[in-house]
Amino acid sequence: MSDNELQGNGRFQYHHDQLHCEQVPLAELAKQYGTPLYVYSRAAIVENARAFLDQAPAGTLVCYAVKANGNPAILRLLAETGLGADVTSGGELFLALHAGFAPEKIIYSGVGKLPHEINAALDAHIRALHVESAMELALIAEIASQRQQVVSIGVRVNPDIHVETHPYISTGAKQHKFGVSPETAVSLIHTAAQHPWLKPVGIAAHLGSQIQETDPFLASADFLIGLADELASSGIQLEYVDVGGGLGVQYTNDKWEVQSEKIQNWVTAVAEPVQTAGYGLVMEPGRSIIAASGVLLTQVVYTKPQDAKQFAIVDAGMNDLLRPTLYSAHHEILPVIKVTGTSKVPVTYDVVGPICETGDFLAKERPFPPLAPHDLLAVFHAGAYGFAMSSNYNGRLRPAEVLVDDDTTQLIRQRQTYDHLLDGTC
Ligand code: LLP
Repeated sequence: MSDNELQGNGRFQYHHDQLHCEQVPLAELAKQYGTPLYVYSRAAIVENARAFLDQAPAGTLVCYAVKANGNPAILRLLAETGLGADVTSGGELFLALHAGFAPEKIIYSGVGKLPHEINAALDAHIRALHVESAMELALIAEIASQRQQVVSIGVRVNPDIHVETHPYISTGAKQHKFGVSPETAVSLIHTAAQHPWLKPVGIAAHLGSQIQETDPFLASADFLIGLADELASSGIQLEYVDVGGGLGVQYTNDKWEVQSEKIQNWVTAVAEPVQTAGYGLVMEPGRSIIAASGVLLTQVVYTKPQDAKQFAIVDAGMNDLLRPTLYSAHHEILPVIKVTGTSKVPVTYDVVGPICETGDFLAKERPFPPLAPHDLLAVFHAGAYGFAMSSNYNGRLRPAEVLVDDDTTQLIRQRQTYDHLLDGTC
């Protein structure tokens, strides 16, 4: 591993050969809180969130996708920074309200909303429910009528735009379960406009996640604007166009990027046509705010040669960070203490967890200085869909989470104990 490859990123940088989060050495955090440990930089989170807010036209609603990372302290921070929330279940709605997001800044997307979840959204008076089928609209209409409450709705369109990303996280093509066809969207909005208790306010699309090019977003924005204009010509004036989330991050350190600059460029490009067309703008970013703001800290337990391979067995596994297993996702992994000098000839390792599955790996065939038990490694870009997709598989405890602010640290989720494995059991 050359010194060139041993470069930190964003708020995670080496000082005197020790990887830090802001001013705090990661090795100190590992000592204090143990591993595996999720570590987040407050400054990075705020900087990325502000990049959306500052660059977007006044009145834009930036709804953070709670699914990316729903830690209450992080949600509180984002709410305080001025963001809204995009929720996808009653549970996420609960978390968003608990964190203090203003209800009028919460939108609710998702294909399978249950009656009790719709009622909870109506109780809270959120900005809008984004409808994804005719049956769902009928149910919302029924509930709204029973409650005699006017409900704002948006319709999520499936614009049939193909994007370059992992097939599991591509959502905007017509074979996917998300949204409705453009013709259905127009018809549902007409239905809603004629209903005494429904008020159509917006039109939305979400193409997928981890999308690096801007063109598909521009195509989607144009498409939505076209539909909104068509509706306007028949007398239905929508308030906003929602371009969804999906802006990708660069997971490899061959060209680390400045995340906030990337966000600003993207917002400038996407906002322009929507603003020109005279609609309000809604966005639903998740990953682009939180991925690069967090690392997963793990410790080598054993090393083991096996046939032609060298395994570094670490104390984090697919239950802590599922992305490498589920999407073959690449996460850069750097040693917390930089070992330099030519005597340290790199060794190629598979970095694997303790779980009883061959798919339990964090990285394959990566060069590191020779590793030994207790060596600490930092898995980069773990802030989004990291803890959020963690589980107790194999009887493993969910890791702790800490938030670093300059030189101070706050424990924002305790490591689970064995008692948690009995939670809710009878
Ligand atoms: N809006 C909607 C309706 C969504 O479904 C999503 C993500 C977002 C916004 C936020 O997208 P983002 O800006 O984070 O790309 N677990 C996968 C990602 C799944 C994304 C699901 N929907 C992963 O680890 O890559």
